[in-house]
Amino acid sequence: MSFSRRDFVRTSVLGTIAAGAGVRAQGEVAANHLLENPAAAAQNNDAQSGSYKRPIIICAHNGFDYLDDAFAFLKSGGDTLDVALRVVKGPEDDPNVTTVGLGGIPNEEGVVELDACCMHGPTRRAGAVGAVRNIKNVSLVSKAVFEHTGHVMLVGEGAERFAVAVGFPRENLLTDHSRKIWLLWKEYHSNSDWWGPGLADPHWQAPTDAAPVSPDKAPQQPERGKPQSELWRERYRRLEEHAGKLGIAPEDRADAIHKVLFPPTGTIHCSALNEKGEISGCTTTSGLAFKLPGRCGDSPIIGAGCYTDQDVGSAGATGSGEENIKVAGAHTIVENMRHGMSPHEAGMDALKRIVRTYNGDMSRLRFVDMIYYILRKDGAYAGVSLWEGYQARRPHTIAVHDGTRRSEVTTALFKGYSQDFPPEPKVPEEVRKQYLK
Ligand code: GLY
Repeated sequence: MSFSRRDFVRTSVLGTIAAGAGVRAQGEVAANHLLENPAAAAQNNDAQSGSYKRPIIICAHNGFDYLDDAFAFLKSGGDTLDVALRVVKGPEDDPNVTTVGLGGIPNEEGVVELDACCMHGPTRRAGAVGAVRNIKNVSLVSKAVFEHTGHVMLVGEGAERFAVAVGFPRENLLTDHSRKIWLLWKEYHSNSDWWGPGLADPHWQAPTDAAPVSPDKAPQQPERGKPQSELWRERYRRLEEHAGKLGIAPEDRADAIHKVLFPPTGTIHCSALNEKGEISGCTTTSGLAFKLPGRCGDSPIIGAGCYTDQDVGSAGATGSGEENIKVAGAHTIVENMRHGMSPHEAGMDALKRIVRTYNGDMSRLRFVDMIYYILRKDGAYAGVSLWEGYQARRPHTIAVHDGTRRSEVTTALFKGYSQDFPPEPKVPEEVRKQYLK
């Protein structure tokens, strides 16, 4: 019986989903969304068979601008891990990138905390740091962990003190721009903390569920009876007004409001392979915006945010960190390739494990997204994602340099776009258009 790659994907996904669907009496299941996507066949160079190009670098879209320089370094004999670190250092150093390094959006207390890990294929060494404050290039610190210690992972204050001890400068990572986005976020939640408005504020209003002042006098309920569209318009208008008061430039306000309402988890991963077949990878991030202090996502976890095996290949992730940790995404992918799957198949299988985490329940999976960057030792590569892109924004892409620098769209498991989290009541389209990008 002949069995195409498409059949393979359909059969294994449906088998996985069926196991979950059987125990759930109701709800939309993932099978309805699968393979309606015409892009579900392999893209990138995994669609070809035969020989692939080396040297090659693959990374997340935010590494694109740094690929030319890193590729020249790779061609001139640069170590593969140093090449990957050179790519990710670009966004770490850039104060305008709000999801990595300097200028990252801070935690809920207004402190930037960074995570990173790396693996050096040729010497089979690994290093990782989590929840590091005041040090910009945590990807380089993760390498220093295996260079200077017998450990693999350092976290928090210990990691910061180690970084300073080996020569990294302490610096303030909170830029004015990220501080203002954080203040806007505080403002948005200010009815549920001590930041005000307080009782003395002339604009204070009693909450709608406050107890009556006296049995015959109901509390002020300014929002009662207003249609949803009106409430949303007011909410966005207030956010825009606050953004203006905080000094956020008019052209940056829509983006800031979007980050406040739907905290992002941007990250960068990079894997590099040289002509000799040596391979390395690294991942670095400021993690989930406004996270709890101490929260680590997948990026500093060897086997989740990044995994490299010199015998097989390298993989990394950007997206929902908590979901990726649960499926040990990068390790799963490399192991899948070791057992014969192509980069595309290996990545799709890891995505299906995320689908299985929620028994294929689309009411949850629509808020989850994941992108895997996969590079096999022979130069075959793939970029795969759970969805085709984030809601109403750009499609997911992978950046590649193998002599030609380019962006390629990922192959998505589900047709359509993931939705912003946390879910909000449906925002009327005209309000969304007016206030959000
Ligand atoms: N994937 C990055 C994070 O969740 O922190």
